[in-house]
Amino acid sequence: MEKILEQLLEQLTIEDKAALLSQIVWETTELPINELKNFLLADGPSGIRRLKEYFDEDIYNTLPTTCYPSASAYASSWNRRLLRQLGNHLGLEAKSMGVDVLLGPGVNLKRSPLGGRNFEYYSEDPYLTGELATEYILGLQEAGTGACLKHFAANNQETRRMTINAVIDEVTLCELYLRAFEKPVKVGKPWMVMAAYNQVNGEYCAENEFLLSDILRKGWEYKGVVVTDCFAAHDLSKGILRGLNLQMPGETGQRLAERIHELLQAGEITENDLDNAISKTILLSEKIQAEKKQVDFDRERHHRFAEQVAEESIVLLKNDNSVLPLCQEECIAVIGEMAAAPRFQGGGSSHVNPWKLENALEAMKGYGHIIGYAAGYHEDSTDEALLKEAESLAGKADKAVLFLGLPEIYESEGYDRTDLAIPAAHIELLERVYLANREIIVVLSNGAPVEMPWIDKVKGVLEAYLPGEAGGPAISKILYGQVNPSGHLAETFPIVLADTPAYLNFPGGMKEVCYSEGELIGYRYYDKAGKKVRFPFGHGLSYTTFAYSGFQLEQKSGDIYVKVSVQNAGQMAGYEVVQVYAGTARERYRKPVKVLAGFDKVWMEPGDTRELTLELDKKAFQSYHPETHSWENSCGIYTISVGRSVEEILWTQDVETGLEFPGPKSQGWQIDAHTCLGDMICHSDVLEILREEFASHPKSLQFLELAQMDNPLQTSMGGLMSFQNLKRTDDTLKDGDIRRIIEKINQYCHVCTCA
Ligand code: BGC
Repeated sequence: MEKILEQLLEQLTIEDKAALLSQIVWETTELPINELKNFLLADGPSGIRRLKEYFDEDIYNTLPTTCYPSASAYASSWNRRLLRQLGNHLGLEAKSMGVDVLLGPGVNLKRSPLGGRNFEYYSEDPYLTGELATEYILGLQEAGTGACLKHFAANNQETRRMTINAVIDEVTLCELYLRAFEKPVKVGKPWMVMAAYNQVNGEYCAENEFLLSDILRKGWEYKGVVVTDCFAAHDLSKGILRGLNLQMPGETGQRLAERIHELLQAGEITENDLDNAISKTILLSEKIQAEKKQVDFDRERHHRFAEQVAEESIVLLKNDNSVLPLCQEECIAVIGEMAAAPRFQGGGSSHVNPWKLENALEAMKGYGHIIGYAAGYHEDSTDEALLKEAESLAGKADKAVLFLGLPEIYESEGYDRTDLAIPAAHIELLERVYLANREIIVVLSNGAPVEMPWIDKVKGVLEAYLPGEAGGPAISKILYGQVNPSGHLAETFPIVLADTPAYLNFPGGMKEVCYSEGELIGYRYYDKAGKKVRFPFGHGLSYTTFAYSGFQLEQKSGDIYVKVSVQNAGQMAGYEVVQVYAGTARERYRKPVKVLAGFDKVWMEPGDTRELTLELDKKAFQSYHPETHSWENSCGIYTISVGRSVEEILWTQDVETGLEFPGPKSQGWQIDAHTCLGDMICHSDVLEILREEFASHPKSLQFLELAQMDNPLQTSMGGLMSFQNLKRTDDTLKDGDIRRIIEKINQYCHVCTCA
């Protein structure tokens, strides 16, 4: 391949090479040399957004396609296998439409529930995001369609998204925001990665040295094509040098060629740099040509699969007195415009033209006794006639199923929400229905959390998210117990906006947004602050009950496993999502109490028992060190918990991880004369060395003992001292001694940090 590539590069002029650096929406440049074909890109990630006319200005004029639930919905499935199949279905559809690369998945974390594109993203947790997105990518690419993982990185808001500078400390960036991309890149191996619009710590993502060069190319050894988001290229030479391959869309033709000539003449880039940049696109284009084939798929089957995805994604949030499932004989009033005109997808580049849109109202008629339908509102307004009609209908029913949520204009790419409320008209409708009927079930259609000040007035809440074109039947089956709900929240539902961790710093100012909450986003914050939430991360009810037993921890060659038996102790078959969290009390300051470290989703018939072994994520026992710029094992005691949500913990056990520190030869964090005792003694072996060494330096020994006391004042008096400080009070501790002790410790091993 290299030889062929070399020969090809020799045939290309600078003009040809320049052309290969830029994509004209939606395709790459085709060159007549050696049949260097172009390839086609299309937006996703929940359907194939293939424009009818490829250069149509109207971005909503697209070919009909299956509209699957949006990512915030399918992430709530917590089902890796489902995500693999979803990728596969999308891959086939893309191929059948001539699309070679799908611009998705999007794995940006939900820093604030206000984020305008949160519906397109998975979770507030990087592990859950990474696990699910990896499967999606694998499934897509198995079908011969490339994934374009986006938006790399820290693109967590729409406000000023094309210019804002996200200021994030390195640890937070790596442990949280980049971690969501890491497994998808390393294991999923997407054909493309999309550099985000924004700046991170002062450099645009499309030319960011840390992101593109240090992390993506060197750290994760990414070999695919890096493309910019639409119009997100800035400094072309920096981009080329740091790992960018393609501008979308970029300058074209003569103008770009002239720029490249200028850059070459000024010595800003060499022709070799240029060749490196375009080689990746050439290789991808050849791979795509080799895999081109005509495929067909069964539309109805894909539509039914969209329904299956919705069924597994919908979350039963509240079910007082088992108000659900509905019985066939009950007289049901269906109220709310969204029952007949579903809200099923978000706005912006992910928007597709659904192949077959089914609504819940029609589907419900097939399962039960619907006594009538009242719209109750139109989008986000209502009037007395609409309210009166709904109230009167509710008065005649056994139960009222109320469809509420966020109209499409409330959630889209391009802007963030400014509050978490559903429209006042929807709440007004609920109040009126409540006057006539107390058996109310709310079905919510929204892409991200909403406040629920009205929750005490309703018995049941079904979070349908944006469930795609087959959401209607999926909702109906769950309402009527044909399907047992199994979705669990992949994000926290706060009580009010002011409770959210980034409340004071979202969306930031004119130029920058400071991620001052650090790693404590989502449940990491609520758990740490002991703040009550409306519904916690991981929450989701079922129509059956599950009994857990036989918890066991096992450590094998550095890996930690949790074993557990789960029994379906109820009457209905269903899925359970088993969640494992891990945390260490030693990480006191800006670290979460616990983080998701493992999960599995299992199907059980009534009475069935499943023995599960969950391998825990290694990263849950590691920390990123800004000194070494790498992940290192943390030492000490970890508490492992198994639960049904981050709050509903069923079992906990402490474990000494026993993880080895990297050997002395690896270039880890080294202590020096300014390292404080508190940080050093986190490792018991280092404590031993200090004890031995200080035996002949009694004053230093006193401080070491203080650092180990239970009393925090004493701990700090000792723990905060460094060799530099000790030397001032302990005359026996000479510079030579200090050098020798430091060397001994650094020789021995890496030292873990305490905070
Ligand atoms: C969005 C991307 C999308 C691209 C092409 C941009 O505005 O941020 O997610 O893939 O447009 O439509």
